[in-house]
Order: sequence, then structure tokens, then C-alpha cells
Amino acid sequence: MTDSESAFDGNGPMPEILAIYPGSFDPMTNGHLDLIERGCRLFDRLIVAVLTNLDKEPFFTVAERVEMLAAVTSKMENVSVDTFSGLLVDYARYKRAEVILRGVRAFSDYEYELQMALMNRKLEPKVETVFLMPQEEYSYLSSRMVREIFKLGGPVKGLVPPLVEEWLHRKAFPQVS
Ligand code: PNS
Repeated sequence: MTDSESAFDGNGPMPEILAIYPGSFDPMTNGHLDLIERGCRLFDRLIVAVLTNLDKEPFFTVAERVEMLAAVTSKMENVSVDTFSGLLVDYARYKRAEVILRGVRAFSDYEYELQMALMNRKLEPKVETVFLMPQEEYSYLSSRMVREIFKLGGPVKGLVPPLVEEWLHRKAFPQVS
């Protein structure tokens, strides 16, 4: 790498590192929150970016997911919530982000995540994907499972932030709230 390509040449203050944490967040889980907490300690700024063009029918609308993420992360000063559509690397370029943050829970995640990270690197070599592991107790947790457990009447306490649990109940039983 030449000096002109390097993000930091040793002169002046260290540049700020902006990371993007992309996902569907349908809904946000405690595993996502764990990763956001880790990410905001590592990077100067973290944007949690909700994908808007999901193929499948979502449980929560994009606006609802953004509202929940914003409420749960409101005390984290360097975290913001946004939406994106299209290619993730185009969004990263537009935001001038250096890092894509992703969580890896188990070996089963690895192949898909590796494929995605390498494809994103091919599309935009300047953006690095950084993987973090959530706390072990969240290593089996996924939004899909939360939706399934909830729809089948099981308890989701401890799997999602309390506010998200409230939203799940409100969504399922709108007449009660
Ligand atoms: O939470 P998810 O559903 O695992 O997140 C997947 C996400 C949103 C990160 C991924 O689907 C994505 O980046 N989609 C945007 C389209 C894109 O850039 N595709 C090329 C990457 S291989």
C-alpha cells in the first residue's frame, strides 16, 4: 500500500473510524444489542443500518424497527440508526465508512459471513469487514427464532430488550394496548 492509499500516514490526529452494522433486525435481539455495545466501544461512530429491500414479508415495518433500535440505543452517544437499500458497499461509500461490522455466532454463520465479506471486499476493497463474537449466551439467538417462538406463544423474555418484547406484544394484540 502506498502512503497516498493509507488511511493514516502518522501525521496529525488519528482519523475517526466509522463503522456500519447492517442487518434486517426483524426484530432486534439481545445478541444485536450486545454487538452494538461492543462496536460502539471499538469505533468512533457506529451506524446501525436497517436493510429496507427485504425479499420476504417482514414482521415489523422498517419504521418500527428503526424506532425500536433508536430507543434502545438512545443513551449511546456515538451510535445512530439509519436505513439503506441496494448494495451495502454503495451505502458504506456514501457514508465514507471504513468498516462493516458483523456478528459471528457459530460455525454455521461463518460460511455465509465469509462469502459476504469477501464479495463486499471484491466490490469495494477499501471497506473492511470486522467480525465480533457476541456473548456466549447469545450464540444461539436469532431474529427468526424470536419470531417463531413468539408466534407460537413461547416466552421471549431475555432474548430481546424489554422494549422490543413490549412491541412484539403490542403488534400481536393491538387491541390490548
Ligand atoms: O441481518 P441479516 O439479514 O443477516 O443482514 C444481511 C445484510 C443486510 C447485511 C445483507 O443481506 C446485505 O448487505 N444486503 C444488501 C445487499 C448487498 O449488498 N448484497 C451483497 C453482499 S454479498
